Amino acid sequence: MKELKGIKIGKYYIEKPIVQGGMGVGVSWDQLAGTVSKNGGLGTISGICTAYYDNLKYCKKVVNGRPIGAEALNSKEAMMEIFKNARKICGDKPLACNILHAMNDYSKVVEYAIEAGANIIVTGAGLPLELPKLVENHPDVAIVPIVSSGRALKIICKKWKAAGRLPDAVIVEGPKSGGHQGVKAEDLFLSEHQLENIVSEVKEERDKWGDFPYAAGGIWDNDDIQKIMELGADAVH
Ligand SMILES: Cc1cc2nc3c(=O)[nH]c(=O)nc-3n(C[C@H](O)[C@H](O)[C@H](O)COP(=O)(O)O)c2cc1C
Repeated sequence: MKELKGIKIGKYYIEKPIVQGGMGVGVSWDQLAGTVSKNGGLGTISGICTAYYDNLKYCKKVVNGRPIGAEALNSKEAMMEIFKNARKICGDKPLACNILHAMNDYSKVVEYAIEAGANIIVTGAGLPLELPKLVENHPDVAIVPIVSSGRALKIICKKWKAAGRLPDAVIVEGPKSGGHQGVKAEDLFLSEHQLENIVSEVKEERDKWGDFPYAAGGIWDNDDIQKIMELGADAVH
């Protein structure tokens, strides 16, 4: 059995190579993310639709029980509160914030997450080509894209390198994960999209740019962890 070794993401050491997936709309907020980080994995707070935190308590504009407008929906006040409460659980252990690229107000939410104390920004659902620019005044904030192909990682690395950064880690999600793979539903079962194949492909691309660790998603149990680590993954998601 392969030994599970810690990984470094930017300047942050994650004792157990388990990166909790960001899960939007209330699934991964303070309690889950704080507890994962407290126990040595990387907890990930979902940065989307934070208005719904604590029954819309921090939302500035609610009509008929719904936040109105992107600014109300992605509430800065709620984000600050979620991080504050997660920190009560995990102290100063590393905490990530997952922010979907496809959301409205992406750049604003990155700003809120940094102000709230996120150590690591994780982004999927699109190519976050502008992310290095958004964190340029925060060199300690690690940046991590989620990809489903070596090609996507190549595009990101090329653009980020030109902006003076590279990913601090990369997360690979296959078709069995609950994420946004960027593949048509009818193509999900093609062999080229299976996790085992894309892990190798992404690792090959990663090796051309540096040795930042990558995590693989779509993992069910310890057998899957062992299998994917045999293929070279440094962590699981
Ligand atoms: C309810 C739910 C909400 C999710 N929301 C997000 C999200 O906001 N951002 C994201 O990048 N991934 C999101 N995901 C994808 C998970 O992060 C990803 O599926 C997981 O980490 C990979 O592990 P899995 O194999 O258990 O799905 C979501 C998944 C679920 C099930």
